[in-house]
Amino acid sequence: MAKPTQTTAHLTNHRRSVNPEEREQANGHRGVIVWFTGFSNSGKSTLANKIDQILFQQGCKSIVLDGDNVRYGINSDLGFSRKDRKENIRRVGEVAKLFVSSGMITLTACISPYQDDREKVRRLVQEDQFFEIYCKCPIEKCEERDSKGIYKKARAGLIKNFTGISAPYEPPVNPDLILETNHDSLEVCTHKTLRLLETGNVFLESNKIPRHKNTI
Ligand code: ADX
Repeated sequence: MAKPTQTTAHLTNHRRSVNPEEREQANGHRGVIVWFTGFSNSGKSTLANKIDQILFQQGCKSIVLDGDNVRYGINSDLGFSRKDRKENIRRVGEVAKLFVSSGMITLTACISPYQDDREKVRRLVQEDQFFEIYCKCPIEKCEERDSKGIYKKARAGLIKNFTGISAPYEPPVNPDLILETNHDSLEVCTHKTLRLLETGNVFLESNKIPRHKNTI
């Protein structure tokens, strides 16, 4: 639990009446965070949604927290300064942690360009509850795929602090998985991600084991 601060010193952490093991048994899997990081257009959202779809079809409990979408709601007050991005990732991390405690496989798709911010999220949950996946794709390739036209705007100076152009991206130091999304197909990346979850013992042997090999 986090160290008490002036604002948390007089709070009580209430005990839960349903324990994590009971949820795991009911769901057939553990609650985890699958954290996709990489440039805009590197394939994070597409992949997270594909995995979500497969998990859903197999009766798993999963959800996608997408940077773009979350910024319409809980993070609508945040921009793209260093400070705002830090807060963006902190909130996504805290929300993801809540979903984990509800037993869900929580897939996040945020650029999350700073190692320090990602490390802080990793530490919010247990070591075996966090999987960091680096969607590695050269900026030129991401720019080529510019479906939303944002790279064009960033190059024209219309969007400030744009990751990869006018703001930094710090690649993960020791990610759980690197996906070369410019070489590997969506199917291959999906397969590798599901393999990672299998080898990370996310799915209970006794219960539903994803049959993704038949699904892709
Ligand atoms: S993060 O850096 O704070 O993790 P996040 O994933 O939430 O970013 O949001 C990224 C999305 O916001 C991009 O996919 C893009 O559509 C949009 N966007 C708008 N301005 C920027 C910017 N300056 N840099 C990167 N993405 C931006």
